[in-house]
Amino acid sequence: MTRFDPAGSLRGALTPPPDKSISHRAALIAALGEGETVVRNHLEAEDTRSTLAAIEALGATVERDGLDLRVRGVGLRGARSAAIDVGNAGTLLRLLPGWLAGQPGGEWTLDGDESIRRRPVDRVVEPLRLMGAELSARDDRLVPLRVRGAELRGVEYRLPVASAQVKSCLLLAGLLADRPTTVIERRPTRDHTERMLRAAGATVRTENAGTPVTIHGALPATRVTVEPAAALAPSEITVPGDFSSAAFWIVAAMVVRGSEVRLDAIGINPGRIGLLGILTRMGAALEVVETAAAQREPTATIVARSGPLQAARVGAGEVPLAIDELPLVALAGCFADGETIVSGAEELRHKESDRIETVVGGLRGLGAEIEATGDGFAVRGTGGLRGGAIDAAGDHRLAMLGAIAGIASDEGVEVRGFEAAAVSYPGFAADLGSLLRPA
Ligand code: S3P
Repeated sequence: MTRFDPAGSLRGALTPPPDKSISHRAALIAALGEGETVVRNHLEAEDTRSTLAAIEALGATVERDGLDLRVRGVGLRGARSAAIDVGNAGTLLRLLPGWLAGQPGGEWTLDGDESIRRRPVDRVVEPLRLMGAELSARDDRLVPLRVRGAELRGVEYRLPVASAQVKSCLLLAGLLADRPTTVIERRPTRDHTERMLRAAGATVRTENAGTPVTIHGALPATRVTVEPAAALAPSEITVPGDFSSAAFWIVAAMVVRGSEVRLDAIGINPGRIGLLGILTRMGAALEVVETAAAQREPTATIVARSGPLQAARVGAGEVPLAIDELPLVALAGCFADGETIVSGAEELRHKESDRIETVVGGLRGLGAEIEATGDGFAVRGTGGLRGGAIDAAGDHRLAMLGAIAGIASDEGVEVRGFEAAAVSYPGFAADLGSLLRPA
């Protein structure tokens, strides 16, 4: 159990850890590349350690030099057969089968921790089978997942759920298929894989990209097409700071009185920063200054300050762009004036925990007036939060949510299972310490 007492204020500047989503992709794409790839500023955390162990099991070699990695890839068709433990890493679980499925002669098993054993893989099994892949899963939807490499055919596939993980899986499979593969997304999601594959020499076309996202009305579909490739050469990949980690400090600065926090070198991929629009509607005092891009990914410095907040509504169109930050929207909603409602977010039920249940139950235990709905939650702001105890439920984002709730609360918060934060942000407690000014 770890205790987080009410803070006087948060002040100062920090660079959040390297992006988890991009670090997973960098290691995987380096592994399927020819020759050596240098990955700069790679995240060192439990989740990304699982990905490095996985690519080593497949035959890649990894040397770490501080925050940089040197990865010698096995080539697009060179992964050796192995049993892979994905640990807690959903991104690894969903992306890796796409690459493996297209390598005839190989056989792999993917399994993971207790949380991974509850998370669905049918979302990748189904489209990969349409491409000719040979896969089997427990109850046809859960790990252990077995993959036998096969010749794949290119398909056109409309994603039934907005998921960058599923899209990325199919794009990797498409590299090994006999003709182009097109993934149609009804709602845009993060495009890290597309950017990284293009930088490595693959042909990836996106139509309707950059369509402005509104919370009202349908958006035109986005079509992403990948051409089959003979080989890829990523050579160098630079990982920006993780917006999803920075988001804890952005919201903390907003809800702890007298705070001002500057966050440097954060990735601001348009598919990741839905939270900024939501917080701006809530009246947040935010400054976003775009800085140089880190290898095709835009980056920024963000300054967040405390101030009065109003409730906001968040609908399905915005959900994929803020999917990992919706627990923080619930927390901000506790401090806002009025009722904050998030809908169209049933995907939250399939994260590291059922984040509708764990966020609503957790914040309610701290005194919040919050209700779960089938596809989201509604929180009535009371201007503050009493405090108490919260269980992280093995979910890193819930552990950090509890910590921020604690420093913003009246009485402090005990977080059971806080060590889960190490999945994405091992330095969280140290960074908090550097920003904290006593009450
Ligand atoms: C991720 C995509 C999202 C997100 C997850 C990381 C990724 O999942 O919740 O934390 O790296 O592509 P879905 O694509 O399943 O929504």
